[in-house]
Amino acid sequence: MSEWWRQAVVYQVYPRSFADANGDGVGDLRGIISHLDHLQSLSVDAVWMSPCFRSPQRDHGYDVSDYFDIDPMFGTLADLDELIVEARRRGIKIVLDIVPNHCSIDHAWFRSAVSAGRGSVERERFYFRDGSGPNGDEPPNNWLSLFGGPAWTRVTEPDGSDGQWYLHVFDAGQPDFNWEHPDVQQHFDDVLTFWLDRGVEGFRVDAVTVVGKTPGLPEGPTPPPGLPAAHASAMNKHFQRHDIARAYWARWRRTLDRYQAEHPGREPFTICEAYIPRKPQLILDYVAPDQFHQAFAFDLMLSPWVAASVKGFVDSYVNDVMNNGGALAWTLNNHDTHRSVTRYGRADAATAESWTGNNLVYTNTPVDVALGVRRSRAMAVFTAGLPGAFFLYQGEELGLPEVLDIPGDRRQDPIFHRTHGNEKGRDGCRVPLPWTQDRSGNHGFSAGNTEHISWLPQPKNWGEHSAESLDLDPDSITNMYRTLLKERRNVASAEAGEFSWLETEHADVLGYRRDRLAVFFNLSDEPRSLDMSGEVLVESESGACWDGDLAPNSAVWLRL
Ligand code: GLC
Repeated sequence: MSEWWRQAVVYQVYPRSFADANGDGVGDLRGIISHLDHLQSLSVDAVWMSPCFRSPQRDHGYDVSDYFDIDPMFGTLADLDELIVEARRRGIKIVLDIVPNHCSIDHAWFRSAVSAGRGSVERERFYFRDGSGPNGDEPPNNWLSLFGGPAWTRVTEPDGSDGQWYLHVFDAGQPDFNWEHPDVQQHFDDVLTFWLDRGVEGFRVDAVTVVGKTPGLPEGPTPPPGLPAAHASAMNKHFQRHDIARAYWARWRRTLDRYQAEHPGREPFTICEAYIPRKPQLILDYVAPDQFHQAFAFDLMLSPWVAASVKGFVDSYVNDVMNNGGALAWTLNNHDTHRSVTRYGRADAATAESWTGNNLVYTNTPVDVALGVRRSRAMAVFTAGLPGAFFLYQGEELGLPEVLDIPGDRRQDPIFHRTHGNEKGRDGCRVPLPWTQDRSGNHGFSAGNTEHISWLPQPKNWGEHSAESLDLDPDSITNMYRTLLKERRNVASAEAGEFSWLETEHADVLGYRRDRLAVFFNLSDEPRSLDMSGEVLVESESGACWDGDLAPNSAVWLRL
């Protein structure tokens, strides 16, 4: 067994925003096919696609109405088959994104649950309850949605009367499945097998921490006023019971292990989105021989721009997770988080803590994009050398900043709408990619129709960040990622044991070693002289490492 995923480089595609082949302003599978050469040029091992299943798109695909089909907006099953073949021809595997906690209110099971009425067996696949209060007008309990507002929405019964309430820890369009129900468990076995049979090589598993629920759904704590929606909601542990969900994930793992045993040459894996800030040891609940294969190491993405903080997060993941057998994937960006260019370019990047996932708290201090790009490059060079997998998010290789000024009437994230605009949400990291310098349309995002407005507006200057302009510049961030990820293939072993810190004599410079690779990372605004010798393999900026000095906000790989 190669366990290829342990050290894979995986590129996250957000299908709505990657490339639009049919010119309707929304990305699609044929758009992805048309840019596979770009992905191959980055030496990625796999592409993870955010959900492209049938969905009314209330949470942009994370509300699935049919887990066995591609949404017509993105294409057809035949397009997916072609994507798998074309990707494989370029040495790239396809990883899908499975959403187990909830489906869409348009899912056939939910529709039949609503129409079958109170007390029906159809309602048992979800959490339907009578309301509290004299007329059942209040939600059944005090649980809050991670996206803001109550975690319950009332339905109208088939006879037109005000009815029961259903649980949704995210948007009202995303009813939570009752995982105790055998139909739900069987459904996901079938989902996994269906896509594996089509040639998919792995799954990113969405929001796994919210799957187990305390039986009886007891009241949660009352959060203090003023907390961001997700923080207030997440104080309630009654919908975060891994001890209950453990048996469900064990069943998934048996399904995957069986598939692998029956299909020589196939090695499907799962990476879970277990977002547990600042408690790396708890990740081991989720990454185990009977649970998921791998988890994201999210805390690095939260870190302020301070060497001790970055080092502390790496240390805790390596010591608490990896050295206890847990496989990790490092990541600096995703579709839920402000882009690193903007986080690191903020005037208070050294003190502000960013939050990821559904915990969006960001400051409004000014952003120096050039500094943010410089630091993002350095952070990528530092991170890509660590033992484990490395996930990057589309546009990271273009140095895209977060788009902060999307007008309210163009914003689509349910977080924005459910918090009445108090929280901006995640649209700013989901703006369609610029492919060409062409200013007339949407910078090559949509093919053909250059007049077409993309589903989120692109900033006018995005031609500068386009793949076309960056390709031409040998020192661009894109070409830096190409060199970095190509060199990374030579750093073969993913074993954490061989990782060790190097003394650097400067508190704001980090150094580590893996076999013959040495990595140095200067987080200060001053050049630092270092005792570095060896062949320069990768620099975050050309000339960053010169005559024993490492330039400010830069990083280097050396072969000892
Ligand atoms: C995960 C996804 C996020 C989605 C949520 C609900 O956190 O990454 O985009 O909104 O789950 O499915």
